[in-house]
Amino acid sequence: MKVPLLDLKAQYNEIKDDINPKVADVIKSQVFILGPVVEEFEKRMADYITASYAVGVSSGSDALIISLMALDISVGDIVITTPFTFFATAGAVSRVGARPVFCDINPETYNLEPEKLAVLLAEMENKERDRLKAVIPVHLYGQCADMDPIMSLAKKFDFAVIEDAAQAVGSEYPSSEGPRKACTMGDMNILSFFPSKNLGGFGDGGMVLTDNENLYQKLRLLRVHGSRNKYFNDIIGGNFRLDALQAAVLCVKMNYLESWHEKRREHADYYNRAFEEEGWIKDGLVKPPKAVYRDRGIKNDHIYNQYVIRVEQRDKLQAYLKEQGIGTAIYYPLPLHLQECFSDLGYKQGDFPVSEKAAREVLALPIYPELSREQQDYVVTTIKNFFSR
Ligand SMILES: Cc1ncc(COP(=O)(O)O)c(C=O)c1O
Repeated sequence: MKVPLLDLKAQYNEIKDDINPKVADVIKSQVFILGPVVEEFEKRMADYITASYAVGVSSGSDALIISLMALDISVGDIVITTPFTFFATAGAVSRVGARPVFCDINPETYNLEPEKLAVLLAEMENKERDRLKAVIPVHLYGQCADMDPIMSLAKKFDFAVIEDAAQAVGSEYPSSEGPRKACTMGDMNILSFFPSKNLGGFGDGGMVLTDNENLYQKLRLLRVHGSRNKYFNDIIGGNFRLDALQAAVLCVKMNYLESWHEKRREHADYYNRAFEEEGWIKDGLVKPPKAVYRDRGIKNDHIYNQYVIRVEQRDKLQAYLKEQGIGTAIYYPLPLHLQECFSDLGYKQGDFPVSEKAAREVLALPIYPELSREQQDYVVTTIKNFFSR
């Protein structure tokens, strides 16, 4: 049996009768750059997320860059984020000329650890703290970072917060003020519609969401080369536009999003139960992902963009699963503070031990909505065969 990590063809086959006419409408209209379908998608996403404003952009990476630009973050500024994330989170900071500073993660959620952030802030010299402009918590794998204490620190130390919800569209957080969706807590909040996300386009796409009208207006300007009237440029922006064909696909896929979250959660629970029954959790062979906000009065406590286990013999298990036709992935094998391109930041091995250990042990298993029970059973049996070798 073959079990790919992700099967986008299976998803397309189920919804093509909805997608194809909507895409054909855009083609018939020949309006490809922004226009009514992009506006429709922006409105629907703003409503779904319960954010005041949504700006469709060219990718999640560009959503981060344009957010930093709108906040006037540039050369000499500092932005704190996690070293255990996709490159773009910190890459965007460098792209605008600012300096990323890393802070270690929580070992259970893999998200920025607020207690460590508090220590980092307290230990920063005054002149460095003055240059700190923003913190980017990442809602890794589909579960929100612990936002309440991060937002309290933002108030205390006066920095902006950019939620990187690239992997967490629709995920919720049980804030002290009640349930909050990812992208409603920071000043600027970003999504990615990379095809592997729970809401994925037929190519690249992203979005910035905010409740701040001034920032919204600035984002719209930055998205089109800073030009309010064509060929008259008020500020330096870029081409950060979401295209209409992507918006058409995403509008249709939105109708299925909640049911896909549900299926992913069911699959996660099924794996969890199976690993429990096999005794692997008790024996410490497999550590399943922990949904830390379960039973806290929210539905999408975890949307499982990835179902990530920890295993000591990770590389051997991954190779074995591959031999047996099962796709897996490592998100992420090398934390950002150890990446060659960030060597000038002066970090070294041992600086962020929780991230470094996670990088050695994490393994993402297939969790896409269309995954069948037979396929999941095959994954479990194959892991069992690996352990009994
Ligand atoms: C956490 C995180 N941030 C940012 C991005 C960048 O998004 P995109 O691939 O749409 O540029 C991704 C996408 O993989 C991501 O996972």
